Amino acid sequence: MLEKKISDLQAEVEKLLPTISSMDDLEKFRIEFLSRSGKLASLYEELKTVPNDQKPLFGQKINGVKKTLEAQFEMIRSAINATATKQKNEIDISLPGRMRPKGTHHPITQTMEEMKEIFVSMGFGIEYGPEIEDDYHNFEALNFAPNHPARDMQDTFFIKDDVVLRTHTTPVQIRVMKSRPLPVRVIMPGRVYRNEAVSARANYFFHQVDGLYVDKHVSFADLKGTLVTFAKNFYGSDIKYRFRPSYFPFTEPSLEMDITCFLCKGKGCRICKQSGWLEVLGAGMVHPNVLRNCGHDPEKVSGYAFGMGADRISILRYGIDDIRIFFDNDIRFLNQF
Ligand code: DAH
Repeated sequence: MLEKKISDLQAEVEKLLPTISSMDDLEKFRIEFLSRSGKLASLYEELKTVPNDQKPLFGQKINGVKKTLEAQFEMIRSAINATATKQKNEIDISLPGRMRPKGTHHPITQTMEEMKEIFVSMGFGIEYGPEIEDDYHNFEALNFAPNHPARDMQDTFFIKDDVVLRTHTTPVQIRVMKSRPLPVRVIMPGRVYRNEAVSARANYFFHQVDGLYVDKHVSFADLKGTLVTFAKNFYGSDIKYRFRPSYFPFTEPSLEMDITCFLCKGKGCRICKQSGWLEVLGAGMVHPNVLRNCGHDPEKVSGYAFGMGADRISILRYGIDDIRIFFDNDIRFLNQF
């Protein structure tokens, strides 16, 4: 009798186990088989009715069933727990959203943006031109004669005999003057290229912002006023500045502007080569030949132009000692800005 009951119970459990898939099922299983009034307990009750000499044998059998049952119960319980946590990990709508890593603007971009903002607030528009430029726009129309020694000032990357990577943003002046009626008042930011050995101070590409204003009666005083306003906004209202005569083929007269070195405040340091001054831009009145090349009569209209670099300024502002680090794309460097 008891023997059959034991094997029936085993068979019943065998059938039931695969159907248990939730904690509720498992609890029902526990009550039915493992609880004090469960089926296993009733086997122990029956054991009392068995003849004494058979008790040890049946006792061992029931104990074995009990052990297996308890082990199976534990196994199923941890399996259900594991799927529950897995599902929980997959979709937990109560979790806060994951922050996306935020990038920052490149320090040179930031410098250029500030320059742009100041000129835009002074009424300048913004124009862009191609980085692959022809000899005509990069040199010829800007009054560089074919064998003009000034071409040696800029070591050029040639794509073909008459196609170059632009060596400055000044050719955009030609494109703007040729493509729209006067007055024009624009700045022209962009990347430029020169065939230079890469070092801590120099790279073969860098960034410039050119400016151009052409209209009736544009004067040298207008140019100076614009440059001083820019410099005070950009470098600080307390800076000192000076203009030096200079030479560019596309302007006449030409000048360069220095400001007091903002690192040593004019005392003289390694960066300003002990002079106390930093050269920040070139400028001048648009050369009559350039106006003529663009279809304007230099007797009737005049203009001023200027050009400045953004890389060296960024280095000085942020106290960086090697220009190459700007272009390594190292996120640990870029994140500091
Ligand atoms: N293009 C010159 C350079 O790359 C900078 C420059 C000087 C631009 C005077 C100008 C200018 O527009 O008027 O060195």
